[in-house]
Parts: sequence; C-alpha cells; structure tokens
Amino acid sequence: MSTVRLPGLIDVHVHLREPGATHKEDWDSGTAAALAGGFTLVLAMPNTQPPITDETSLQEALRLASQKARCDYAQYLGAGAENIDHLASLAPRAAGLKMYLDQTYGPLRLDDMRHWMAHFENWPQNQPIVAHAEGRTLAAMILMAELFNRSIHLAHVSKAEEIVLIRKAKEKGVQVTCEVCPHHLFLSQEDALSIGEGRSEVRPRLNSLEDQRSLWENLDVIDCFATDHAPHTLSEKDSNNPPPGFPGLETILPLLFTAVHQGKLSMDDIVLRLYTNPRKIFNLPEQPNTWIEVDLDQEWIIRARELYSRCAWTPFEGRRVKGRVERVVLRGKTAYEEGRVLAWPGYGQSIREIGLS
Ligand code: NCD
Ligand code: ZN
Ligand code: ZN
Repeated sequence: MSTVRLPGLIDVHVHLREPGATHKEDWDSGTAAALAGGFTLVLAMPNTQPPITDETSLQEALRLASQKARCDYAQYLGAGAENIDHLASLAPRAAGLKMYLDQTYGPLRLDDMRHWMAHFENWPQNQPIVAHAEGRTLAAMILMAELFNRSIHLAHVSKAEEIVLIRKAKEKGVQVTCEVCPHHLFLSQEDALSIGEGRSEVRPRLNSLEDQRSLWENLDVIDCFATDHAPHTLSEKDSNNPPPGFPGLETILPLLFTAVHQGKLSMDDIVLRLYTNPRKIFNLPEQPNTWIEVDLDQEWIIRARELYSRCAWTPFEGRRVKGRVERVVLRGKTAYEEGRVLAWPGYGQSIREIGLS
C-alpha cells in the first residue's frame, strides 16, 4: 500500500441545499460527504430557498452551519437586482459574491448588464466575485473584469471556446481565474445515454469530446478543480422536469487519482488546483494540523450506496477507479477514517468569522 499525505483540500463550489431543500442535502450530510471526499473546507453557494442575499438569510445560513457542519466552511452571497446597495457591508463575512448570469437552478439570475456593473462598483475590490457565465456571457464577464480593473473567478468552465478565450485574456493580463468540474473532464455528451436523460441534466451541459479534450489540453489555464456538487434526488432527476446538477464531492479525488495513474496529470497538479490556488484566489486561512491520507493503489468501483450525500446517486456509478481517501485529519482530530465520518455536526468552523466575534 502506498500512502500519500496531502493538505486538507478545498472545494470552492458546493450546493448544500440548506435552508429549504434538506431532502436533497443539508449542512450535516453535505459536509460528511465533503470529508469522505477528502475536503476539509467547502464554500457554499447561495441558491438555497430562500436564497442567501441579505443579512437575515446570511445569518440564518451561518447559524445552521455552525450547528451542523462537520468540516470548515464559508457561505457565498447571491447577487440580485434588489440587493446591490446592501452587500458590501456583509462581504467580510461571506465566501464571496456569486453572480448567476445564465439559465440554471434556482431563482437567482441577473440579466441586465447595468446590474452587473452596479455589483462590480459596490462589492469590495479585494473580495472574490464568482460568475456562472457561459459562452458569450463569459466573454462579457472578462470585459467587466477589464473595465473595473478587478479579479473575477469563472465557475465551471466547460467548452473549448471558453478555455481558449480565458487563455487569451490571461495573456493580456486580465485578472481572470477559472475552475473546471470533474464531470466536464471525465464525461461528455457520449455518456448521456447511459446515464439517462434526466439524470444527465447539468449546467453547463455535458459537452462534446472535442470540448472535453480541449480542457485537458489547456490544463495550465485551469486554476482550480471544483465539484459543483449539486445534489438532487433520483425521483427529481427522473421526473418530467429534471433539475440540473450532479453530486461530486465523493468522486472527484478517485477520478483525478485515476488520471494520475494514466499519466494525464500529476499529484502536484491536483494539490495546486484543490488547495494552493483556492487559498490564494479566495484568500482562505491555513487550517492548522490538517491533512488527508490517500491510498494511491487501492482499486475500487464507485457505488452510490456507499456515498454520504443524501441524494443517493452518482453519474459515475459503476466506474472503476484507483486511489482512495483513507483518513482526514481536521485541526488535529481524525474527522474521517476508513469509510466512517468521525467529526460531529458543529465541529466545522466558519473560516470568515474566525476572530470576528
Ligand atoms: C446547480 C444547482 O443545482 O444548484 N446546478 C447545476 O447544474 N450546476 C446550479 C449551478 O451551479 O449553476
Ligand atoms: Zn452554475
Ligand atoms: Zn453550482
């Protein structure tokens, strides 16, 4: 057995569904899934019910998290047409500002470019802005970063034309960073048939093999890997109106380790994109005495019934992988070991609130 020690990993893009849809996931089940997947810190998206768009909803999300989270966390605020003037004062307590600019799950969506600009004016220069922006909307966001001379992080980049444009923008010195999700690296449209019509719904959609290949070819442009863990139940996914989204917290690492065995990337590539760059881009504190232990040679088959996510399915069902998280130590305590989550609900800390109270 070859055990490797890595830092506690960071997922900058997860949906934990609480408040409002705890039948899909909650702070407890979602952070248990995070630990089982090798993550000790997650940044939670604001498209909950209600969405996290003001002081009251942020307080409530942080209250629930403080009672239930098993790993460390921060909560994003969602940009709306109505909350432009109120967000700046909340910025220090948030993971960042999330702007939804294309069709996706939940009520948060900004269409008018004047609202985009107003948020860019108001949100503090040194705090992260993350955008769900696809295709030409992504190009427009790169323009915003240039016009307002600030950084922007582009979520779940999935297409050849997008990653090539981001390369060009970086070459020109635009302050743009991006993340790519495991399902766009390891799945394409070709897999949709076997996954099933409703189950394969995700935004951005599964793309062509050419798009998939181009993400791998432009690995140097990819700053972070992020799961976009977006749990929905099987009955929802198999319904007439399937919501988009895949769970991902517990499957990303074995998929990436398998790619290491195949010579497609290195362990350093993984640590850079799941620890070093997330910390830098999102200004995240070090978690003391925190690491994960990985058995790189263990071969196993991904099975939804073994996962902690409440949604109880995975688009990677049946996939053979090599490499497994054995143990997670968070702030000196064993939080996960050999399939069992040991950190209790409430052990997780709010990383933006350390030293604030
Ligand atoms: C996400 C969700 O379900 O919250 N769905 C998805 O397909 N990615 C929303 C999002 O990340 O855009
Ligand atoms: Zn999105
Ligand atoms: Zn998402």
